[in-house]
Amino acid sequence: MTSRFDLVVRGGLVVTEAAVVEADVGVTGGLIAAIGRGLGRGLEEIDAAGRLVLPGGIDSHCHVEQESSTGLMTADDFHSATVAAACGGVTTIIPFAAQHRGQNLPEVAARYRGRARDKAVIDYAFHLIVSDPTPAAVAEHLPALIADGYPSFKVYTTYDALKLTDRQLLEVMALAARERAVVMVHAENSDAIAWAAERLVAAGHTAPRYHAESRPVAVEREAVHRIATLAGLTGATVMVVHVSCREALDEIRAARARGVSMLAETCPQYLALTVDELNRPGFEAAKFLCSPPLRGGADLAALWVGLADGSIDVLSSDHAPYRLDDPAGKAVNGKDAPFTRIPNGVPGLETCLPVVFSEGVSRGRITLERFAAVSATNAARIYGLYPRKGVIAVGADADLAVWDPDRETTVTNAQLHHRMDYTAFEGMRLRGWPVMTVARGDVVWRDGAFAAQPGRGRFIARSRRERSVAS
Ligand code: URP
Ligand code: ZN
Ligand code: ZN
Repeated sequence: MTSRFDLVVRGGLVVTEAAVVEADVGVTGGLIAAIGRGLGRGLEEIDAAGRLVLPGGIDSHCHVEQESSTGLMTADDFHSATVAAACGGVTTIIPFAAQHRGQNLPEVAARYRGRARDKAVIDYAFHLIVSDPTPAAVAEHLPALIADGYPSFKVYTTYDALKLTDRQLLEVMALAARERAVVMVHAENSDAIAWAAERLVAAGHTAPRYHAESRPVAVEREAVHRIATLAGLTGATVMVVHVSCREALDEIRAARARGVSMLAETCPQYLALTVDELNRPGFEAAKFLCSPPLRGGADLAALWVGLADGSIDVLSSDHAPYRLDDPAGKAVNGKDAPFTRIPNGVPGLETCLPVVFSEGVSRGRITLERFAAVSATNAARIYGLYPRKGVIAVGADADLAVWDPDRETTVTNAQLHHRMDYTAFEGMRLRGWPVMTVARGDVVWRDGAFAAQPGRGRFIARSRRERSVAS
């Protein structure tokens, strides 16, 4: 009998944002060719009975082979990051091409594409980071890059080397509204943080845990409110990234109720960890130092409500890998450095989906359909990858993650594929794990073995937003 398909993933529970149905998925030429029961044979057959078949994850916020404004390089390059992502059920990443002041945006975009080209094992696109919106950048470079497949960019309201003034935010938001791009915003009030941090340090409160005290909920709430106001004035669509607390979420809900086009993203560290982690002894607490900081249990609970009720559109890792025990990582300024001089961020490309599956789906906080939406489909829609990616549908790329919903795993850094010396989720007991990842029809991760060559991943030029896309 001749084979109808290159690959058939047979008999799994296929999960989309709309439904969970038992079906086979037939793949030909890297695309989904058929979905249904009793499909003909494939050259390769995967028995998915008792497994879930989800859209491969889209990690739409991660920092890969990215220099900070002080020249510090992330520990993961495009090879290690994409291997780690694939082993965590992710089939597409959207990291950043980061402009530092004085740099030309088209050159920055070309440089990051060059970094990824021969290393990435799964598909990738790029958001830009805009820290220097010169007249040429706003009038020429950004419109050209948006048209060339980079229809989203991140801006900062904090970090001296990155932050934009309100006037600059208005300029780039107006441009984004005109060009149908998405403005991703890191929302924290910079002056309030600097004021609090200076007082803490002057009082000798320099340990990592004071990082959280210097960036209380109020500084995030204020910045989200201001961003919503600026977005409303300009008509821009704004994605508030790494939302960490209820008050920020309430500002987003209120802005939407006023008609502002405001989207929200959160990350597993805010859904599974609390600020108590910063009480760990000595420099170990620096593992958990990120911005916005980890919050309390009530905020964590509120984020789960937001993820379930649609207030939060997208889940991403915010993978920002700086090794703990490394003079080129968290310890760049020494292990006694004040919290103001410790690089921010936690790693999480590989653990993002398993942590949220376990804490969310397995614990009954979100449905499988919602998990598919926030881990893949919404990001595809918002960032211009849909319907090619983020969905299990005929004609889409065959990007699939096969999950064993019952597999119990205790997370250890040793099992992960990033180039990090820690995971913030060490020792966490999880239920549910992606046991196979299929990327454009290639089985790249199966039962603990990774098999794909550097360079197999492709750059995906994304399209602009539809006029009125809601996630
Ligand atoms: O602390 C964090 N989140 N570091 C990564 C950079 C960013 O702002 O997303
Ligand atoms: Zn940020
Ligand atoms: Zn980030």
